Amino acid sequence: MLLGVDYYPEHWEEERWPLDARLMEQAGITVVRLAEFAWSRLEPAEGAFRFDWLDRALAVLSARGIRAVLGTPTAAPPAWLVEKHRDILPLDDQRRPLEFGARLHRCLANPTFRRYSRAITAAMAEHYAAHPAVIGWQTDNELSGNRCYCEVCAARFREWLERKYGTLDALNRTWGTSFWSQEYTAWSQVPLPWRTTCGSMAHNPSLLLDYFRFASDTTVEFQREQVEILRTHCPKHFVTHNFMGLHDGVNYYDLAADLDFVSWDNYPSGSGALAHDVMRGIQRKSFWVMEEKCGHTGWNQMSPIPRPGQVRAWAWEAVGHGADAVVFFRWRSCRWGTEQFWEGILNHDGQPGRRYAEIAQLGQELRQLGPDIDGTTPRNEAAILYSYDQIWALQVQPQVAGFSFRLWLERYHEALQRLGVGVDVVGTHADLTGYKLVLCPPLYLLDDELAARLERYVAAGGHLVVSARTGVKDAFNVARAEPLPGPLAALLGIVVEEYDAVGGGENTIELWDGARFQVSTWCDVVREEGAERVAKYVRDFYAGRAAITRHAHGKGRAWYVGTLAEERGFRHLLRSVVEQAGVRSLADLPKGVTAGSRVDARGRLLVLTNLSACEESVALNDACEDLFARSIVTNPVRLKPFGISVLRTTR
Ligand code: GAL
Ligand code: ZN
Repeated sequence: MLLGVDYYPEHWEEERWPLDARLMEQAGITVVRLAEFAWSRLEPAEGAFRFDWLDRALAVLSARGIRAVLGTPTAAPPAWLVEKHRDILPLDDQRRPLEFGARLHRCLANPTFRRYSRAITAAMAEHYAAHPAVIGWQTDNELSGNRCYCEVCAARFREWLERKYGTLDALNRTWGTSFWSQEYTAWSQVPLPWRTTCGSMAHNPSLLLDYFRFASDTTVEFQREQVEILRTHCPKHFVTHNFMGLHDGVNYYDLAADLDFVSWDNYPSGSGALAHDVMRGIQRKSFWVMEEKCGHTGWNQMSPIPRPGQVRAWAWEAVGHGADAVVFFRWRSCRWGTEQFWEGILNHDGQPGRRYAEIAQLGQELRQLGPDIDGTTPRNEAAILYSYDQIWALQVQPQVAGFSFRLWLERYHEALQRLGVGVDVVGTHADLTGYKLVLCPPLYLLDDELAARLERYVAAGGHLVVSARTGVKDAFNVARAEPLPGPLAALLGIVVEEYDAVGGGENTIELWDGARFQVSTWCDVVREEGAERVAKYVRDFYAGRAAITRHAHGKGRAWYVGTLAEERGFRHLLRSVVEQAGVRSLADLPKGVTAGSRVDARGRLLVLTNLSACEESVALNDACEDLFARSIVTNPVRLKPFGISVLRTTR
């Protein structure tokens, strides 16, 4: 277990560095991330690289036993570079440049920018390849989809399309461009989704989805250039990137494919559990938190200050969900610049205070339990499927106000969490063998291959939950020409006869046992074709018709959930589903308490985190040992406000 901090020596006088390093050491900090925004200091003029200051900072830190992760500084191109090459600036959907003055002012497709990015990456990699304090690299910073609208992007988009479709004819046919006379007779006519008379989201949905994919691919390709350089010069160092949890601008599965492990930046207000599960699911292994919130956050306005114990609780929640390192952002609040009020462990005054003491306590605890945690990894019996294609297609056409992939994801995740069921969030491409239960938020784009894999999963004994708006389109974002839910109709034993986009309106469903719950957003009217009814509507012209069904198939079962119930309702439903699937539940958890678990040969390590300001108690389903007290716990476990408990069960 590593405890770390994001440190910016370039913001402070050199005389201060030794004190910073001593305070870090005293708090148990053993790793820092540095330099990811320091381009103007590392290359003050074109080709004139300066590493002396960073070398001196590393010397001060490593004298205290602190090791370093270096960021390539390409998220903040310096003023001289922009002055010399204005064409590197990204354009918005009206082709207006986004100017220098903040950060990310670069188009990742721009060949000139790419050249400078490779040059600074190579210079840093050569200089630090053999440095004893450097252990790894972070590429750029928080890469998102390069949704730029410049001519370079336009040209490259057309090439991307040509590779995908082969001929313009095939593109015209697939996209159905006879609609509104959009048939292209030359590649040069294919636009980016520039703003039209009806806005920029009025473009052909097939074009929009391909543009989002292309922009994501551009980002992946940009990062790959840096990764290749780093691997060539620094074969002993790891390469990672700081992802952004539920951010969905870039396909994180693709972005992570070139990396050793995923890191991510956690700025929770409540729990970070869902985002941890998404991040861990990308490579299906442990990860780092590269930026963890430790104080007020905000640029010009601040969010509420974390309560005493809350920062420690977030860190332990991260560990329970699979973090092998927690790196706090940032060491000291900056006196200058846009992020003056995005607080560090130390305030502007540089004095250690309450937050420092809390992090020092955490450092001590991680040292104490390190041997118990090291080598364990999360492993769960339930999974939720996740997909950027689904997210993007539903952003292009959200179906009804308030409907999104994320809404379903959050609702399922929250219900499972309250049931004490650990869950992996994995890509739709993931191998599902080993999971007893798989839940699918809307698989709005459904191709026959995925449908066949889901069918085999259930036939072999898996339990599957499928949601409304599944099977509406194919992978080209073209509406499928069969009754809903398209290729899953036989597996689910149903047909969706019609549907009601209720939005903020509501209906009520009644479950098999008479329990009633509110539903909203979407109501599918389902006809059973072999499936059993699990819930029916109570109101409106489809009162008495099925809303939720269950169908036995092969050795497994498949549920169809045609409407979005309040969390209590999904919990009621999923309690029964989880039991039928034979999935382990740790305990019923009160709202605000999360549980993460990691396993190894010694058993299952369980981290309970109380993220609420009230005392809570949890009745565990298994006997556990408290790892701090080294004694068997007496059930129920009591958790103080923002309190945590680290347990081990042998089951
Ligand atoms: C993160 C970013 C950091 C810092 C922080 C506060 O998104 O990676 O560099 O800017 O937010 O805004
Ligand atoms: Zn561009």
